[in-house]
Amino acid sequence: MVVPVNKNSDFIFHQETPPNGGPPLARLIEKFATPVQNFFLRTHGDIPEVNRSTFRLTIAGLVKRPCEFTLAELGERFPAKAIVATLQCAGNRRSSASAIKPVPNEVRWGNEAISNAGWKGCSLTDVLQFAGVDDQAKHVEFVGADRCSKEGTEVYFGGSIPLDRALQRDVLLAWEMNDRPLATEHGAPLRAIVPGYIGARSVKWLKEINLLIEPSKNLYHAHAYRLFPSDTSSASADWEHALELGELSVNSCICAIEEVPNGVLVKGYATAGGNRHVVRVDIGFGEPLKWREASFQDPPGPGIWRRWEVLIPKLLVGEIICARAWDSAANTQPEDPESVWNFKGYMNNAWHRVRFGMPWEDVKVAKPEIDYYL
Ligand code: MTE
Repeated sequence: MVVPVNKNSDFIFHQETPPNGGPPLARLIEKFATPVQNFFLRTHGDIPEVNRSTFRLTIAGLVKRPCEFTLAELGERFPAKAIVATLQCAGNRRSSASAIKPVPNEVRWGNEAISNAGWKGCSLTDVLQFAGVDDQAKHVEFVGADRCSKEGTEVYFGGSIPLDRALQRDVLLAWEMNDRPLATEHGAPLRAIVPGYIGARSVKWLKEINLLIEPSKNLYHAHAYRLFPSDTSSASADWEHALELGELSVNSCICAIEEVPNGVLVKGYATAGGNRHVVRVDIGFGEPLKWREASFQDPPGPGIWRRWEVLIPKLLVGEIICARAWDSAANTQPEDPESVWNFKGYMNNAWHRVRFGMPWEDVKVAKPEIDYYL
């Protein structure tokens, strides 16, 4: 049965079954915490309806005490913990990567595969300490309850993070999002939240946690979310040795451009990966480019987006506006989108470029290297 999702009427679905989509960009940055009706949705299989009363989370693999918990037991046994974390898909901004060279068979995300929320649950660290992690264990695997079809087989969606990351206390087993029980489409009754990591590791409809020596062999870990050089094709890809994605990179996007009496107001979001935070966003405009520093609407925080805005002088139709962010480790975005192109279209964090006042169709035809998703 298809589970209905509660999204705003202007939510843009890139795919209906299973549902994948996000809000228009101007709406995306309306609030620091994205309301559930606007929160982007990334699903690989049909949305499962997990019965809250029969739900059990099992902890197995390399632990001294394999155990299982109901939702109530998780709440009673472990201290509640609340965090703010931004989720961002590794495929965010894929559409502008595919304007360089096609990225077949993947969801054509614009810049909206990202959202921010308050999450409440318990710390994974507490649960792992209760189960007692064996010395050999190096990775923590999450498995969801959704059956997905990949490479001709049916698998439960899953993936792992290094044990060191799992023990940093901020990785959450969350049952609330923005002070409400998790919505079905966002993982009810329980999901993992791994701040600063690609969204794929924040496994929804979480049913199993396994402690492993090696990273997960789940197809969504071993045969997806890996980064290949630009000259690798799907035919030549060596999945086993490819870079396994984990921490997100620094990124920024322009989400709204408004003409105001004294110039042009440009607004957007910026993110940093791992435990880094966004420290600066520069907005370039005109040809040759002149730069202006944006001011932030949100405080800095690890793995949390910062919305920004800046007033630039009046521009002529067709003039370039671009954004680049810097994080607390002095990383910045690459200028050239070609240098980060890969056949899966992951981790596109090149400068975001748009042309002032041009409808996206014109830009697409005239200048394929310019990102047209506004
Ligand atoms: N968990 C399960 N069980 N199934 C999924 O398809 N998609 C992942 C992750 N967790 C997924 C999942 C991906 S790729 C992303 S980007 C985030 O969930 C998206 O979370 P959201 O749909 O709540 O925005």
